Amino acid sequence: MSRVLVTSALPYINGDKQLGNLVGSMLPADAYARFMRQRGHEVMFICATDEHGTPAELAAAEAGQDVAAYCAEMHEVQKKLGEGFGLSFDFFGRSSSPQNRKLTQAFAGKLAEAGLIKEVSEKQVYSNADGRFLPDRYIIGTCPNCGFDRARGDQCENCTKQLNPTDLIDPRSSISGSTDLEVRETKHLYLRQSEMRDKLRAWIDSKTDWPVLSTSIARKWLDDGDGLQDRGITRDLDWGVPVKKGEDVWPGMEGKVFYVWFDAPIEYIAATAEWAEATGQDDTAWERWWRSDRGGEDVRYVQIMGKDNVPFHTLSFPVTIMGINSVDGDGEQTAPWKLVDHIKSFNWLTYEGGKFSTSQKRGVFMNQALDLLPGDYWRWWLLSNAPESSDSDFTWAGFQNGVNKDLADVLGNFVSRVTKFCRSKFGEVAPQGGELGALEDELARELDKRLTAYVEALEAIEIRKAAQELRAAWVAGNEYLQKAEPWAVFKTDEAAAAVQIRTALNLIRLYAIISKPFIPDAADKMAAALGLEEDALLDWPRSAKDALTALPPGHTFTVPDNLFGKIDDAQREAWEAQFGGGS
Ligand code: 2FM
Ligand code: ZN
Repeated sequence: MSRVLVTSALPYINGDKQLGNLVGSMLPADAYARFMRQRGHEVMFICATDEHGTPAELAAAEAGQDVAAYCAEMHEVQKKLGEGFGLSFDFFGRSSSPQNRKLTQAFAGKLAEAGLIKEVSEKQVYSNADGRFLPDRYIIGTCPNCGFDRARGDQCENCTKQLNPTDLIDPRSSISGSTDLEVRETKHLYLRQSEMRDKLRAWIDSKTDWPVLSTSIARKWLDDGDGLQDRGITRDLDWGVPVKKGEDVWPGMEGKVFYVWFDAPIEYIAATAEWAEATGQDDTAWERWWRSDRGGEDVRYVQIMGKDNVPFHTLSFPVTIMGINSVDGDGEQTAPWKLVDHIKSFNWLTYEGGKFSTSQKRGVFMNQALDLLPGDYWRWWLLSNAPESSDSDFTWAGFQNGVNKDLADVLGNFVSRVTKFCRSKFGEVAPQGGELGALEDELARELDKRLTAYVEALEAIEIRKAAQELRAAWVAGNEYLQKAEPWAVFKTDEAAAAVQIRTALNLIRLYAIISKPFIPDAADKMAAALGLEEDALLDWPRSAKDALTALPPGHTFTVPDNLFGKIDDAQREAWEAQFGGGS
């Protein structure tokens, strides 16, 4: 037993949440965290809403809401969605929390102390009417390329040309519409990440067990001359963590906030501080997860994210942590703050061969998905088709097929047949009598093989592989029933049928345990039907043989409702029409 810290990339507070967000970070992180708990490890599984930055400000303005109120509301929405998908976070925090504010300011102070921050003067557009600097996308005007009259300072949405605010014809503030704009000098803080290139490279080189997707992206930026440039970590915005050096004023930085990508990863840590407060514990409770000098030496830290997030997690955030460690320990020798041990990253999920698109109403989003079917259906399809080695495509036909075949025909049907047959012939109790024989031996051998491969895959966070092994374990149970034919055997040899059905009831118990990382609700239903306590699902099987005899003769159960319904063709077509796609 050891300790495992798992963080999922933090979803932005604004915008519709795509299934791709779910399968690229939160869902695999959840399956892994659940599995690790079941294997007896102490787990801390963290996620949060990523609340700062211009997009959040703009989304709030569009909703006609104060940004703090908007974020508070959207945080609750996302928290509920997570619950709907069965995400078992130990804490779901907010990057706008006081804990993150304090930690971000403290870290910035340490980085300054380490000599890793420099001040840079920049020219930026200032709006006299608004009394503030305008970030690029707050400036709109006429596109010099296509004449579109609402092009933004960073890009023209009409012709997609990348722009600078000074390229715009008749520029104006998107906040007030004022044209009273001027270019002013303003100072910003830069993180001197280029200083750390060698240290980062050595660190990445030592990560030989990381998926290639993670290391190749990191190396690309390390090798690319422009990739590891010093990076601006402050912005002229109101909404964000105010720039301070620890608790002190940072001269020249009044009215500025940290860039969202500076404070967001720090929230991984701060969320555990939020957790400690919410559970009535002091700082030692969360520090033991993050600081090797506070009991965190034995923690394995795993981050899970989409591939676009990899540069921030392999370069920028490690620079922050390495920089702090250079002043926060007893000099260079100690490294109190944990660097990540393992980064698992995912490719994209596409929708019916194209992109998910909110504006074109293409694709099914997280909130809509739960209105159609419960979380487990989505979890199974998404995880068993996770975009691991390449992109994956969501199609309604593929989804229908996965649900109907794997969940309804293979697993659901097994549970229903076994429990109903037993009830009709023996009553709702594991029947007495009979001896285990060659068929059960064969089943146990097959299951042992599957279980070993399943455990290996989940330990390596190879999600698709794990799903295949799980499905194969379900199939093995069906094949056993086909061969054993207890319904036929019962007519001539009741005791032989009894041992077969008892074995099959034990298979349901085994399926409840091993399916929990993928389909936790169905796992709970199977466990409840067998009258098992929640903790029983933590009892990971030592061997298939043990598992097949765990429930003794006389153990009572109830026949559960159907675990999964099927998706018929009319339903599939209706969803294709409603959400776009199909052929
Ligand atoms: O890409 C995104 O969705 C970001 N909000 C991820 C942030 S991860 C972490 F660093 F906070
Ligand atoms: Zn244009």
